[in-house]
Amino acid sequence: MAIGEATLPGPSLVLTPEHEMIRQTTRDFAEREIVPVAAHFDETGEFPRETVRKMGALGLMGIEVPEAYGGAGLDALSYVLALEEISKADAAHGTVMSVNNSLFCHGILRFGSEEQKRRYVQPIASGEAIGAYSLTEPMSGSDAGTMRTRAERADGGYRLTGRKSWVTSAPVARFILTFTMTDASLKHRGITAFLVETSQPGFALGKTEPKLGIRASATSEIVFEDCFVPETQRLGAEGDGFKIAMAVLDAGRIGIAAQSLGIAEAAYDASLGYAREREAFGEKIGQFQGISFKLADMKTRIEASRLLMYQAALAKERSKTSGERYTLEASMAKLFASETAMFCAHAAVQIHGGVGYSKEYPVERYFRDAKITEIYEGTSEIQRMVIARSELGLR
Ligand code: CAA
Repeated sequence: MAIGEATLPGPSLVLTPEHEMIRQTTRDFAEREIVPVAAHFDETGEFPRETVRKMGALGLMGIEVPEAYGGAGLDALSYVLALEEISKADAAHGTVMSVNNSLFCHGILRFGSEEQKRRYVQPIASGEAIGAYSLTEPMSGSDAGTMRTRAERADGGYRLTGRKSWVTSAPVARFILTFTMTDASLKHRGITAFLVETSQPGFALGKTEPKLGIRASATSEIVFEDCFVPETQRLGAEGDGFKIAMAVLDAGRIGIAAQSLGIAEAAYDASLGYAREREAFGEKIGQFQGISFKLADMKTRIEASRLLMYQAALAKERSKTSGERYTLEASMAKLFASETAMFCAHAAVQIHGGVGYSKEYPVERYFRDAKITEIYEGTSEIQRMVIARSELGLR
């Protein structure tokens, strides 16, 4: 089935012809290159190197990165429009794209030196190599300020020791933006960020994370054993790491909203097509209220998610000149869109009945893929915490 057939284009109030073109170009690419291979890579769990390489060649790995650093030099809205289309074809490709763009390139562009931008952003934004972001540890997930991996001062740099988990793209990454404790007595204010090169001695991959969904994206633990990292690879000042991690996640969460929207739309399109064709009790099943009301709720939540995502992307774009935080907008978009992805994928399986549970149809993949959006880059509970604290003026 072709994706996107049944989905209306979003409201045009903020979309220019250039934005529409970016969306259409990415959609055409995704339908041609990714849709035909998505089930295969989900089944095998292999990393889809060839399609990821083509995404890089198309400019999708550094959409907001200035052309001087190998990127496409577009805006925040272009990024979410393109990521939505890739994720509609396959959420795992969307994960790889979102980490390269928002968790890796964005942080270095914002906090890195000129030399770091040239050395680390250029190859990732141009699609030559893959980047990753590593905050989580086996004993520190939502409470990110309690990490144990440490970096101790050594001659000309630092020695890193510890184990980090759930690192998207680690097995295929050339560089990893990593967060470590340089002074545990200062708690979150003792965290420092480093740009680790995976070829450096003392760096190793740990166990592969056996995942429910987004199986074509490569995810593993990483291990540091006395890994020397020169001072030139520190991102920002000592102790700035937590704020860098959080600011980068603000950008990342908008990407996950786009990914969620793509999954929700794929689930909705499949359901709409099935409801129009499948017959039961002498009628198309779309005639039954039990099915049609599900479709109505799916469509409404999708369009609401889209508006929250646009709002967040525009806030991010404004922040490039104003410097204002867009934490609230990002968390609201991520929360609502990810719960919409799960809602739509759940409804899609139900609408499809038995075949919805079968690997012969894509909706069971959407169902497995949707769940991660409520967990990574901050669980739904963390998003609610961030939103409530912001509204109550607690932060
Ligand atoms: N931008 C800038 N600064 C921020 C910030 C933001 N968005 N959020 C918080 N800060 C600052 C605060 O202002 C505060 O500054 P001071 O030290 O000057 O007071 C400091 O950071 C600490 O803030 P909090 O007191 O709010 O910190 P907290 O310990 O209560 O935690 C939290 C806040 C929101 C719960 C945070 O820990 C969090 O987001 N947790 C979830 C972590 C997460 O999303 N992990 C996913 C990792 S990535 C991944 O999923 C894998 C992958 O590969 C894709």
